[in-house]
Amino acid sequence: MSSLFSPAQCWSLADRFATPLWVYDAATIVERIARLSRFDTIRFAQKACSNIHILALMRAQGVLVDAVSRGEILRALAAGYQTGAQPAQIVFTADLFDAATLACVIEHRVPVNAGSMDMLHQLGPRSPGHAVWLRINPGFGHGHSHKTNTGGEHSKHGIWHTDLPAALAAIRQHGLDLVGLHMHIGSGVDYRHLAQVCDAMVALVRGVRAAGHDLRAISAGGGLSVPYRSGDPVVDTAHYHGLWEAARQQAQAIIGHPLTLEIEPGRYLVAESGVLLAAVCATKQVGSNHFVLLDAGFNELLRPSMYGSYHAMSLLRRDGASAAGRPTVVAGPLCEAGDVFTQSGDGLVLPRDLPPAEVGDLLLIHDTGAYGATMSSNYNTRPLSAEALVEGAQARLIRRRQTVDELLALERGL
Ligand code: LLP
Repeated sequence: MSSLFSPAQCWSLADRFATPLWVYDAATIVERIARLSRFDTIRFAQKACSNIHILALMRAQGVLVDAVSRGEILRALAAGYQTGAQPAQIVFTADLFDAATLACVIEHRVPVNAGSMDMLHQLGPRSPGHAVWLRINPGFGHGHSHKTNTGGEHSKHGIWHTDLPAALAAIRQHGLDLVGLHMHIGSGVDYRHLAQVCDAMVALVRGVRAAGHDLRAISAGGGLSVPYRSGDPVVDTAHYHGLWEAARQQAQAIIGHPLTLEIEPGRYLVAESGVLLAAVCATKQVGSNHFVLLDAGFNELLRPSMYGSYHAMSLLRRDGASAAGRPTVVAGPLCEAGDVFTQSGDGLVLPRDLPPAEVGDLLLIHDTGAYGATMSSNYNTRPLSAEALVEGAQARLIRRRQTVDELLALERGL
């Protein structure tokens, strides 16, 4: 759990920008980037937190970016990322093209990390010489939830490993430019699989060589976990890099020249930089359960409802008093029983010890910098919340709160 912001700072942010409010700490992001500096290229998986001001911060730190949609490509461009540089500042990773996205990658010459054969066959004829990576599903995967495991035969992601020769043939057939091999076996992975992933990469590089192709880079993908609970393991980035560095050496020996080593984290760079500030709006006793109801729901933070994810919480009392904890179920305002932040993910409430709360208190949900704001929705016609960035003693709004009028405007006057 992070205690990034003092209670006074939280109250001042809530008073200034209202709640619910996403708050990020720039210094934490910069520090996490530094921990991965052994890699040649850090490519931020912006799906974790794609606010253009966060992307601009990444860019200022020399971090490159991954995009998974036309919208994310346009975000990267809006944040000042350029096309045409080497290594590519923006890479598009997906398992399919829709028409608008295919046109966009061709227009901006954004390298494509292809997760299906169809992508190669659609891109090739329309954009000869286009730079491509191959995202390979190595046949196994791991994640903090089944829903974030992206390897193995239950996953829709990547080109199945035995299809590598066919993918290479498609690249040759269409005159595409193979940049690198990429693997991402899941999010929130444990490190028992790391050596296996590195071995799988080396085997694939051997396959590329055997087919007479060249390579310039390999990517370790993302998935590095963060300690959401006190006591959770902290990634040993030196060890992590060491195993990948050894794989790179083997790959270079096979290919016969230097290769760039990329890493593609999302959560690791931003999760611990963020908190969600919410106001306590009601409290109630329901049989044996004590509920505290917030002005933020799963339309803001989906992770507990979607995966049963744990996020640490702190209560800030308006009167500043502290008191012993009591078992508390923390829930949101939505008209849905699963709108609970302290749950197992299959709908069972898990009361958490929190000090007694009163209407008007603030509740902080920690470690929400990744997959927080980016997974928000307009469910129950609730506008997207504001985002603020803290840089030292300064705080500024980096996304204003959406209005209901803006939502209704999409449906009016058609
Ligand atoms: N690269 C690729 C190809 C990915 O699909 C992902 C995540 C990443 C990198 C970054 O993974 P990270 O380093 O953030 O674990 N919504 C879920 C996570 C889904 C991640 C999807 N892909 C969550 O809230 O835990």
